[in-house]
Amino acid sequence: MMNEILKLNNITFTYAPEQEEVKNAVEDVSFTVNEGEWIAIVGHNGSGKSTLAKIINGLLFTEQGTVEVMQKLMNEENLWDIRSQMGMVFQNPDNQFVGATVQDDVAFALENNGVPHEEMVARVHEALAQVKMEQFLDHEPQHLSGGQKQRVAIAGALALKPRLLILDEATSMLDPQGRKEVLATVRKLREDTGLTVLSITHDLEEAILADRLLFMNGGQKFAEGTPKEIFDLGDQLIELGLDLPFPIKMSKLLMAQGVSLQGNAMSEEELVNDIWISNFKK
Ligand SMILES: Nc1ncnc2c1ncn2[C@@H]1O[C@H](COP(=O)(O)OP(=O)(O)O)[C@@H](O)[C@H]1O
Ligand SMILES: [Mg+2]
Repeated sequence: MMNEILKLNNITFTYAPEQEEVKNAVEDVSFTVNEGEWIAIVGHNGSGKSTLAKIINGLLFTEQGTVEVMQKLMNEENLWDIRSQMGMVFQNPDNQFVGATVQDDVAFALENNGVPHEEMVARVHEALAQVKMEQFLDHEPQHLSGGQKQRVAIAGALALKPRLLILDEATSMLDPQGRKEVLATVRKLREDTGLTVLSITHDLEEAILADRLLFMNGGQKFAEGTPKEIFDLGDQLIELGLDLPFPIKMSKLLMAQGVSLQGNAMSEEELVNDIWISNFKK
């Protein structure tokens, strides 16, 4: 049986419970994440994605619904223990630094958790090596590029040895190069360690890499499935304020122009292959 690392059961959340006319930020959302999976949550602005992330991380409490982490019901008593098994990286790379140097910064949460000095030093080095930033140990965070800052933020989360890494739009303020760096880092980490990743993203090229997508709309789970299943919703996605990833959009446009294609490419490489096989290969 698959190992469930996270389970949300009928979560409903409102920021203003006393005001009846205020819409729920999250409404009756249930889903499960298995150990080692990469789940992406997509949906337009205000669809409840960050609220969900904060509920999972125990930063917000729900009145309705429950959260199970590693088969344990999250409550006020085990919250700290559970939270120490999750790493979270937020959107703005400049708001995530507390240390004067890269290594101080990565060490910060470990220090707070009372990790002994020697182990702390080892873990800081290991985490920075995992994101390929070990040569920046003594650098000041503010002088790093956006992509480097987010990799350090990921190292800060990894140093805690989390079972689950939550990225809330962690690449959205980065330039294409920075985005690439961070994504490559996350992919490599998953290959090497089997880390479970929950990434909230606007970037459909990022979402398409996930094992499974959760599509949020107006606080509700609108759909859940493999990237292929979700992007097959096509026009429905566009109506709900999401775009389609480049290879899918390109396939559709080409087919609309009469180019013969199988039309199921999920990456640029697959698109090139599809064009080749459907048109030129004898
Ligand atoms: N701190 C807050 N106080 C009141 N309402 C909020 C707060 N944060 C978010 N909201 C509202 O909750 C809804 C969901 O927001 P959010 O979870 O941030 O969406 P997303 O991350 O998908 O953009 C939105 O209607 C938003 O305006
Ligand atoms: Mg958000």
